[in-house]
Amino acid sequence: MPGATPSPAGELSKLFGRHLEAVCHRSAEALRACGYQALLVHSGSLLPVFQDDRTYPFEVNAPFKVWTPLAEPDCFVHFQPGQRPILAFSQPGDYWYKPPAPPEGYWTGYFDVRICADRESARALLPLDLGTTAYLGEAFAEFGSWGVAAHNPARLMRHLDFGRAIKSAYELACLREANRLGARGHLAAQRAFAAGESEFAIELAFLAACGLREQELPYNPIIALNESGSVLHYQVLEKHAPAERHSLLIDAGAEFGGYASDITRTYSAGDGDFSALIAHMDTVQQALCKDVRAGVDWREVHLHAHRLTAEVLQEAEIVTCNAEQALAAGVTRVFLPHGVGHLLGLQVHDAGGFMRSPEGGDIPRPEGHPYLRLTRTLEEGFVVTMEPGLYFIDPLLEAARADKRASLINWSRVKALRRFGGIRIEDDLAVTATGCENLTREAFRAELSRS
Ligand code: GLY
Ligand code: MN
Ligand code: MN
Repeated sequence: MPGATPSPAGELSKLFGRHLEAVCHRSAEALRACGYQALLVHSGSLLPVFQDDRTYPFEVNAPFKVWTPLAEPDCFVHFQPGQRPILAFSQPGDYWYKPPAPPEGYWTGYFDVRICADRESARALLPLDLGTTAYLGEAFAEFGSWGVAAHNPARLMRHLDFGRAIKSAYELACLREANRLGARGHLAAQRAFAAGESEFAIELAFLAACGLREQELPYNPIIALNESGSVLHYQVLEKHAPAERHSLLIDAGAEFGGYASDITRTYSAGDGDFSALIAHMDTVQQALCKDVRAGVDWREVHLHAHRLTAEVLQEAEIVTCNAEQALAAGVTRVFLPHGVGHLLGLQVHDAGGFMRSPEGGDIPRPEGHPYLRLTRTLEEGFVVTMEPGLYFIDPLLEAARADKRASLINWSRVKALRRFGGIRIEDDLAVTATGCENLTREAFRAELSRS
């Protein structure tokens, strides 16, 4: 059930204590600001399939993952400022399923670990009175009798989510490792593509190289051959290789210690024109990475991506006008209809992307850019993705053909390029005071030098 977990030895064990201190500090501040005395966080429940005796694959709740890399259902962290956090760990006695082993590893020493048989008996391990405790997690059958002060209070969650954008050194180490695993998977996927494999076989190559099963990944891989690359979150995984092979767009990440990588690469099967377009988009992506440093308004980076996309469209003769005209007429949004990136961490699209402050207020998206997921000004310690794209998406092209943008698009070029689907190149960046660390490119370099 858990994804890759940190090894007990080494760097992570040294960093965890400081990480937990930061989480405790942030939580204590949030509790004080919102008028609670303690916090209770649930790891999540196993959700049953309708009319069946199976459950869906378990997903750990993100607010729990910030406390511990433990990935088991019905565990609780109880935190009262000034006290060692309690971990109530459920270890059901069961002969149908293997009960989880008691937690061990470098992080357990920071908790008062208490073991129970199940969720109901966990209650007895927690303080008697939860009347000033805020609870985060889903409601479960017996939850009503627990007597908590508040259930998922929005203000408190906002405080916690706002602070979560800044990663500790421990979190950055986990994200580096998630990128290393992801890069290893991507290199295997690239080889499978070159060998003419199907989308499904490419996914199997990715999983095997990461050493993870599908449910341990932070999101379902997007593995799209040929024109399927135009579907932004393509999910099909065809079992048969297509007769003709033009391109692969693979957006797939790994998870480590609860932290996600989110990586996209696009490959051409040999066509020189499309290879040149990929190379151009790679230059664009690298130029945008240079924009990233503390103090930069992410909306400006997104708008810069559109200006650079307009130049690509002009140079590749996909538009009949110049870059400025393409931008002004909204043509770039036909080819780049998603945000240029988002916060990354415990979730692939991490929480808190729009928050002006922990207290309230959202920062609006630029007009006409409804899919941008991050509008905050970057701070040191943020981790963001950088993922410009250029796609040939039939419904968006059809809409443009029906209005005044039609004359600005070179339809014969579009027809020739449609079979490649599209291009996305996505790296994960850790923001610093003066620039950023590209976690993904570093990971690819390290993996390539290993092989
Ligand atoms: N993998 C989803 C995204 O790139 O946002
Ligand atoms: Mn992404
Ligand atoms: Mn992605």
